[in-house]
Formats: sequence, structure tokens, C-alpha cells
Amino acid sequence: MLGDTPQRDYAEKLKMFNAFARPELCEAIDALAVPAGSRVLDAGCGTGEAVAWFHQSIQGRAMVVGMDLATAHIHIARRTAPTGAPILQADMMRPPLADGSFDLVWAVNAINHLSDPVAGVRVLSNLLRPGGRLVIGQSSLLPDMYFAWDSRLERIVNEAVRQYYRERYGRSEHDLAAIRSLVGWLQTAELRQVSVRTRMIERTHPLTEADERYLLHVIFRGTWGERLRPYLRREDFEALARLCDPDDACYALRRPDFHFLQSLTIAVATK
Ligand SMILES: C[S@@+](CC[C@H](N)C(=O)[O-])C[C@H]1O[C@@H](n2cnc3c(N)ncnc32)[C@H](O)[C@@H]1O
Repeated sequence: MLGDTPQRDYAEKLKMFNAFARPELCEAIDALAVPAGSRVLDAGCGTGEAVAWFHQSIQGRAMVVGMDLATAHIHIARRTAPTGAPILQADMMRPPLADGSFDLVWAVNAINHLSDPVAGVRVLSNLLRPGGRLVIGQSSLLPDMYFAWDSRLERIVNEAVRQYYRERYGRSEHDLAAIRSLVGWLQTAELRQVSVRTRMIERTHPLTEADERYLLHVIFRGTWGERLRPYLRREDFEALARLCDPDDACYALRRPDFHFLQSLTIAVATK
């Protein structure tokens, strides 16, 4: 749905997101209190950070497997994951893994990349033993807050991003909102005891290096940047460009009133 292929490579973006959201993701992993001896699968593991965090959380007393489609992500995941953690290159819709062989499957910002998320949830659920847990994470179910001082600019920038995605990937408003359905996917796939919790990733001035790298490179330059020019009025694009430019006196990430919010939703269900 988002154009993932074995050749696609957005490893740098994934590394920056994971360095940025590490405290909240690690807290979510620790909150699962995975027992020693468990078998854990990270489906759509990207660059493998969560494989390492599960390993740490269970103090090495578990088998943690990573699986991803993209060759470039797999190469980095093999370097990031602890020695001995298997990292498989495979399509999660056709996993080369036995049914019932995991106690927990974790998939963060990954199910929304599938053309049929409910079918994906069913496939991952088949990998669980009875009583095993499927954990689906999704960031930004609520709109992120970037410009606490200018909600109008933030709203039109978000709308410009939606327009860009509609045109680039041919996705309708309905498709773009589909990520909000994670609780529904779990219920449609007939999992039990669905529970959900949203944490806020909240950052204020002064930012750490990891926070600034993610916001500057992934959001300001990657998600926004020149590609939004056609979707904004000239004066709005210029105001945005100044807020996003580290060499400009207006640079948002140096403002003392900078206040960033991003939701991180984790839904857990039992087979
Ligand atoms: C947004 S990234 C998230 C990666 C990682 N879970 C994280 O939180 O950093 C989505 C990942 O899913 C992978 N992916 C997409 N479709 C897939 C599929 N059908 N099977 C396996 N991996 C897939 C992509 O290659 C990418 O690494």
C-alpha cells in the first residue's frame, strides 16, 4: 500500500525514528513484561532496534526473531540485533515460520504498509500459540503538534502532506485514515482481550541530538521540504521554509516555546 518492496530503502529514516522514540518504545516493550524463555517475533522489524530492545528487556533469556521485506533494512538489522538473533528476509504475508511458534508478535508502524491489514493480522495471529499476544503499534493516530504557536500553519502543512500522499500513492482520504482502525483489525481477526494504550512522545526545547535529527531530517526535510511547495501558498511555504532552516533566525527547533507532541498507540490482543 505504501510501495514497500525488497529494494525499497528508508533505513536512515527508521534509524532516526527509533533513536528519537526509543524511551517510549522501550517503555512499551518493558510494560509487556515478556516472561523469560518466550519466543518473540518483530514483524516488519526495519533496522532491528526493537529486536535489541526486547532482548535487553528479557535480559537475553528469550529468542527474538526479526523479519522484514527490504534487503537494505535487513542488512542493518543484522548489525543492530544482538548476536544470535535471527533476522529473516521475508514477506510477512507469507512468513517462512511454523504456525503456533511464537508467544508474542510485535509489529510497529508495519501493518499499515500492507494492502490488506486484516489479512496481515490473521497471518501474524496464526504464528502465535494459543494464549500468545499480538501487539500492534502505530504512531500519529492523532495529528502531531509541531508549531504550538501557529495552529493555522500546522493545519495547512498537514493538509498539504495529505494532498501529496493522495497524488503520489493514489490514496484516498479513506485509505489515509485506515491506520486508525487497529483495534477493529484485531477484533475482525477474532483476537480476544483487545486492550489499547496511547502514549505521547513529548519534546520541548532544548532538544537532544536524536530529537533534532529526527525532526529536522525526517520531518522538515523528508516529509515536508520542496515537495510541499506545490500545495501551499507562496507566503505559507516561505514561512514554513524559514521555520525548518537551521540557518534561519526563525528555526523552530531552537525556539524556547518549541513543544512537539506525537501519539504512539499500542494495541495488545490475545489469541
Ligand atoms: C515504517 S517501517 C517500520 C519498521 C519498524 N517496525 C520500526 O518501527 O522502525 C515498515 C517496515 O515494514 C516493512 N514491510 C513492509 N511490507 C512488508 C511485508 N509485506 N513483509 C515484511 N516487511 C514489510 C518495510 O520494509 C519496513 O521496514
